[in-house]
Amino acid sequence: MLEATLINGNNPTGSVPQYDYRETLAASQKVNWRIEDIIGGDKKLDFSKSFMPEALAAVEKLAFLNDNEKRILNQIRGNTYLAIFGLVEEFILPFVLDHIRPSLDDDDYRVRAFLQFASEEAKHIQLFKRFSEEFEAGFATKCSVIGPPSEIAKAVLSHSPLAVALLILHIEWMSQGHYIDSIKDDGDLDAQFKSLLKNHWLEESQHAKLDTRMIESLADGVSSETIAAAVDGYLEMGAFLDNGLKQQTLFDLEAFETATGRVLNAEEREEFITVQHQANRRTYIGTGMSHPKFLETLGRLDPAQRTRIEEVAPIFS
Ligand SMILES: [Fe+2]
Ligand SMILES: [Fe+2]
Repeated sequence: MLEATLINGNNPTGSVPQYDYRETLAASQKVNWRIEDIIGGDKKLDFSKSFMPEALAAVEKLAFLNDNEKRILNQIRGNTYLAIFGLVEEFILPFVLDHIRPSLDDDDYRVRAFLQFASEEAKHIQLFKRFSEEFEAGFATKCSVIGPPSEIAKAVLSHSPLAVALLILHIEWMSQGHYIDSIKDDGDLDAQFKSLLKNHWLEESQHAKLDTRMIESLADGVSSETIAAAVDGYLEMGAFLDNGLKQQTLFDLEAFETATGRVLNAEEREEFITVQHQANRRTYIGTGMSHPKFLETLGRLDPAQRTRIEEVAPIFS
């Protein structure tokens, strides 16, 4: 009912939703790919290549590393990417199912679009796990990652649904930006990793639209105080994630030293941590928080909250 109201233009933002459930479902059915088409069999990671776009990996900024060391660090960052996306998708899946469960008889296209979304996230979790297995099989060093995912999911899902939905919208638009970065970087990325970014982008594009509808429905009729409280929650989760990224940077440094056999001196360590923590912030926080579509949705809920986020975002760029 809430979203039927939205279609009539009576939502708090006074505008008609941009995205249609039937069209979104049709688009996702058209795109739908299989994990086997992306990784496994003769589709292997090529460890002579970089995995992550330089715009996200930022290894070139560490001038004291040689080319081989830069590539190894880039690959470690690739493994971290698999872990972090696997981890965030573990809270997106139950959240989407909980969102649709109470209204299964509302609108058939809406139900099917959200179930397709949930099914794709379950597939993505498995996709990231498959890539992680391939990474472990081909990379000599064990790389630690933050977690466990269940604890992070518990912390995130303790926030209000609107706050969590904002974080999820941020994540979906963020993955759009990541593929665009990989195109810009085209040169010499591993074909399988590039295909992972591309195929994730293709399905996440529908998720971002459905998340926008989810936010419009959760924000329907709520006060500006409730929206401000949701943005508080979103920022708290951002700070929680940022702390995790600091820890992850230290894990990546440890893996780098083990994998290369190079021990950095105090000055190099400091530069490594500063540059790589900021690169992690840009990858997982800045690209979502400053995405024009994310800001557009937030601005339609409350222009003051959009301004607030725009003031914070540069810290994570
Ligand atoms: Fe996903
Ligand atoms: Fe998604």
